[in-house]
Amino acid sequence: MRYRALGETGLTVSEIGFGCASWWGKKAFDEAQALSLVHAALDHGVTFFDTGAAYSGGEAEPRLGRALRGRALHDVIVATKAGTFHDGRRVARDFRPSAIVASVERSLRNLGMEALPLLQLHGPAVPELNDEMLGALEGLKQRGLVRAIGANSFDPAVIEHIIGLPSFDVVMVDYNVLRPERAGLIDRASSRGKGVLAGMALAMGHANGQVLRLRAPRDVWYALRALKNHRSDIAKGALFGFLGDLPDMTAAQAALAYVLADENVSCAVVGTTRMAHLIENLAASGSTLTPTVLAQIRQAQGLE
Ligand SMILES: NC(=O)c1ccc[n+]([C@@H]2O[C@H](COP(=O)([O-])OP(=O)(O)OC[C@H]3O[C@@H](n4cnc5c(N)ncnc54)[C@H](OP(=O)(O)O)[C@@H]3O)[C@@H](O)[C@H]2O)c1
Repeated sequence: MRYRALGETGLTVSEIGFGCASWWGKKAFDEAQALSLVHAALDHGVTFFDTGAAYSGGEAEPRLGRALRGRALHDVIVATKAGTFHDGRRVARDFRPSAIVASVERSLRNLGMEALPLLQLHGPAVPELNDEMLGALEGLKQRGLVRAIGANSFDPAVIEHIIGLPSFDVVMVDYNVLRPERAGLIDRASSRGKGVLAGMALAMGHANGQVLRLRAPRDVWYALRALKNHRSDIAKGALFGFLGDLPDMTAAQAALAYVLADENVSCAVVGTTRMAHLIENLAASGSTLTPTVLAQIRQAQGLE
């Protein structure tokens, strides 16, 4: 596993991170299997774990806490999110500064930690990033509850705004083969000293057609999510079928190598519920795409 600096936070992260979200965190997914994936990731050198208060119906964060219990965590960067929560039926938002502080305190209990290496606001709107919010975030740092502050948004205008805010150390963007247009934003974030995390590095499985291969109930759940929220990505992903025919790497590895070819990206975050996929994804660290494959990708992206 290779490692990269997380912007100017002073933190170092494995270039492939483990996303503790979606089906991985759900009660329907066997706890022992979920924990064994985290343990295998740790054993293979993963030091970045991404989760959120609202993920998997609120179950992902305490599950990650159970997975990490008793493990040596001195190099491990756990990132969680605040601003959203699960109200028992659906994901709800609460970006009042007091709610963010309360969410951090709950997350620390869920994760069994005394301080969070990275707190990310989960999809804030620009008006919510006001002085009161920035003061509350600084307060969390001063109390020693949070080391670095970030934000996740798939709205480029929000990320652009955050890049200009000195209080923020990290941004998480939706960068993958289907989103080459994020490269400029990533470059600007990095040149302002922000660490950049690529969420959706595998485009939720769309980049290799995986999302429509139904082998188990969890696959139906991922396929329905894709059909509901990311229908256009399924069509786009079909243009990248050639990634499945490369001689020396799988489609998922090629998709990750594409993201990591951008040296401004600190970490590509991927979720999985299958051990074989985890091992496959981790093996992408350090692999590079040939100029021919890069040209094919650019063509599929409509850039050549
Ligand atoms: N803040 C947000 O709103 C937000 C949104 C999206 C993502 N994220 C973060 O970023 C992480 C990664 O996002 P993601 O787009 O990867 O979504 P994800 O929700 O974690 O789903 C990943 C999908 O890719 C599949 N997959 C993983 N490895 C594979 C492989 N080697 N070959 C084929 N399919 C594979 C998984 O299926 P299997 O289980 O079968 O492997 C799953 O269907 C998330 O877990 C989360 O931490 C955050």
